[in-house]
Amino acid sequence: MHIHSYEKLWLGMALLLIVGFIGTITYGTVGAGVQMVDDSGGNVEPGNVSEHEEFGEPGVEKVGENEYDVHVVARQFVFNPGSEVYGAIEVPVNSTVNFYVTSADVIHGFSIAGTNANTMVIPGEVAEITIETEETGEYGIVCHEYCGEGHHNMEGLLRVVPEDEYNGSTQ
Ligand code: CUA
Repeated sequence: MHIHSYEKLWLGMALLLIVGFIGTITYGTVGAGVQMVDDSGGNVEPGNVSEHEEFGEPGVEKVGENEYDVHVVARQFVFNPGSEVYGAIEVPVNSTVNFYVTSADVIHGFSIAGTNANTMVIPGEVAEITIETEETGEYGIVCHEYCGEGHHNMEGLLRVVPEDEYNGSTQ
């Protein structure tokens, strides 16, 4: 059977396209470093967050020379700490900051504007995100998963301050 050369060309290009699609999907899943929240960060009893060793008293904790752990509890419709009622999260510039975020009720989001920190917050699971603070300033935190009628008001603040102004507490 004779196949016209244009037909072959189109056939080849269609195959190339399919391989290309598979390639981009594979890259998006594996190569770009996108991770799903799973139990690698530990588990928390969502109804009992206040009894948890770290999440019972969430906040900033110095764990190394220039390294801080920040435990955050998300609940309808606040971040503790982060939201106005609890005060902004404050960390010094030029440090490594590990966020551990969990939810006390429903699925929330945790995204720090101007950084690549962006995760779902799932009840029972601990989302882990590490950022390097390279510039001082105020960074908005938003919940980007619909979590109820107050979702659009669920926001917080991360304040990155100069080393000499850092006093080691949330405020
Ligand atoms: Cu929490 Cu939307």
